[in-house]
Amino acid sequence: MEEERFVTPTFIKNDQNEAGLRPKVFDEYFGQEKIKQNLKVFIEAAKLRQEPIDHVLLAGPPGLGKTTLAGIIASEMGANIRITSGPAIEKAGDLAAILTNIDENDILFIDEIHRLNRSVEEILYPAMEDFALDIIIGKGPSAKTIRLDLNRFTLIGATTKTGMLSSPLRDRFGVSCRLEMYSADELSMIVKRSSKILGININEYGANEIASRSRGTPRIANRLLRRIRDFAQVEGVDVITSEIADYGLLKLEIDKIGLDNIDRAILKTIIIKFNGGPVGLETLAASINEEKDTIEDVYEPYLLQLGFLQKTPKGRCVTIHAYEHLNIPYENK
Ligand SMILES: Nc1ncnc2c1ncn2[C@@H]1O[C@H](COP(=O)(O)OP(=O)(O)OP(=O)(O)O)[C@@H](O)[C@H]1O
Ligand SMILES: [Mg+2]
Repeated sequence: MEEERFVTPTFIKNDQNEAGLRPKVFDEYFGQEKIKQNLKVFIEAAKLRQEPIDHVLLAGPPGLGKTTLAGIIASEMGANIRITSGPAIEKAGDLAAILTNIDENDILFIDEIHRLNRSVEEILYPAMEDFALDIIIGKGPSAKTIRLDLNRFTLIGATTKTGMLSSPLRDRFGVSCRLEMYSADELSMIVKRSSKILGININEYGANEIASRSRGTPRIANRLLRRIRDFAQVEGVDVITSEIADYGLLKLEIDKIGLDNIDRAILKTIIIKFNGGPVGLETLAASINEEKDTIEDVYEPYLLQLGFLQKTPKGRCVTIHAYEHLNIPYENK
């Protein structure tokens, strides 16, 4: 189901050319102001000391710009970046090989770092703390540990699930950034920048319309922009206005605030089958035939952000705002 969903924040085939839209410097990376300010200070200080910056953890829902930010940190540091991911590093030896090949001041980016397995993670601890690799030679009572020095590097870890990171790993990051969903104004700037790069004519109202229906997520904003360009082209419209954006988005069944059929189905299920909640995540997952993880990582963040859904100790509850949006009387509850 997820693959075909147009407003999913996760990467889909459709987004293949997204690399071309990726900002390369802080000035083109809109929003996340606090994070940018802090990172700029850390980068400047590290450069003055001629040291790599402290290890950075970037956390937040998909499509908010974690990978992009890692690239910007690398380019602002003038460092090489080596990109890998938690699931790609299967054995401790794989990580040891990467670490021994890393040059002084390089950046190692590990995406989905919460998915590293335990034995790999243990290699990472001394590497992060002392820039050292502990190698065990031999077996049994005669086994010896040899410590190998590594070049000083920066680890940037990205995760959509901070809760799943082990605390020893989390504690070894000097800098921890939690990315927030973007405001409509910030997304509008992103849409205008992407339009310029793609050679798309768009006016302020068109950009605002797309921005306010992009669920706080730059990846979705860029995706919607491309599709609306298609509608404009077919309709013979030169400039994307709010009218053509609205026309296209309605065709895609994306409503005024960016909800699609699946969001509406989730909310309606809770309202109709569970009387508005609370309903446990597992029960909800079973009744809409979806994975628990997908609900938590993909569907829920925006509904929570909107205040349509609330997490309580007893389960998920739909709020009055969702009833209002769906035109369902709240008294019936
Ligand atoms: N702050 C921003 N300003 C402009 N464009 C952005 C910004 N953040 C993200 N983007 C755009 O959104 C796209 C998705 O961002 P990115 O791949 O960095 O997200 P991510 O957080 O790494 O997602 P995932 O969790 O799926 O790995 C990028 O290609 C980029 O064009
Ligand atoms: Mg990424």
